Amino acid sequence: MPARVIRIFRDVETLSKAAADEFVRWAGEAVAARGRFTVALSGGSTPKWLYQLLTTEPFRSQIDWGRIEFFWGDERCVPPDDKDSNYRMAREAMLAHLPIPAEHIHRMEAERADRDKAARDYEAVLARVFDVGIDAEPPAIDLILLGMGPDGHTASLFPHTKALDETRRWVVPNHVPQLNTDRLTLTRPILNRGREVLFLVAGADKAERLAEVLAGPADPKRLPSQSIQPEGQLVWFVDSAAAARLPSTLARENVQG
Ligand code: 6PG
Repeated sequence: MPARVIRIFRDVETLSKAAADEFVRWAGEAVAARGRFTVALSGGSTPKWLYQLLTTEPFRSQIDWGRIEFFWGDERCVPPDDKDSNYRMAREAMLAHLPIPAEHIHRMEAERADRDKAARDYEAVLARVFDVGIDAEPPAIDLILLGMGPDGHTASLFPHTKALDETRRWVVPNHVPQLNTDRLTLTRPILNRGREVLFLVAGADKAERLAEVLAGPADPKRLPSQSIQPEGQLVWFVDSAAAARLPSTLARENVQG
């Protein structure tokens, strides 16, 4: 497992530009190596800057959009046109503005009443696109974008929730008592197969938990972001507000843009 990379940026704008550069680089490498680029998008608000940037120059024309397969790391159990939908956010910020074949956009149908069937059907989509057996080792998604909540959750792996214990399935429904809601989420087995996992974390409200996740003792049930230890490259892009509580040794090594 390659060493973890942490880069600290002045603000979310410079963080997002660096993430867009990384996306371009990684897309070019994946297409050159395997003929396509597979990406799992994160929800929430932080990645919106990145998604919007990618539709603008110089990033837009550097990416072969027809070679990208888009997945989601998690989804709220709402219709795709709901204001809380991760699909809707990505569609409005990026996907609707780019020449991406509809069949390359793999939405999690988390609005379905039968959450477990929706999760299993998404596993079947992953198995089909990656051409692997549903009971085989999870596929290696090229780039998995993740965020981190102020409670240390990532994707929809919330502290002390059932999905954290999943060691076999790739996608599961997860009840989140903290929010009194259900989600669909990729699980640790598939998240930890990522070739690159890129966390985008911004905002002072993340500072205390980020310091615990990156520099505190292991406590992955309370800090689910700690459970993301991919076989590939683990990269954290954080802004200075979120990095404010990092130990000086960690912060000093990593100040970037
Ligand atoms: C979601 C995300 C979630 C998100 C974090 C951070 O569905 O909300 O997948 O894991 O990444 O909550 O969200 P912000 O970027 O809005 O702080």
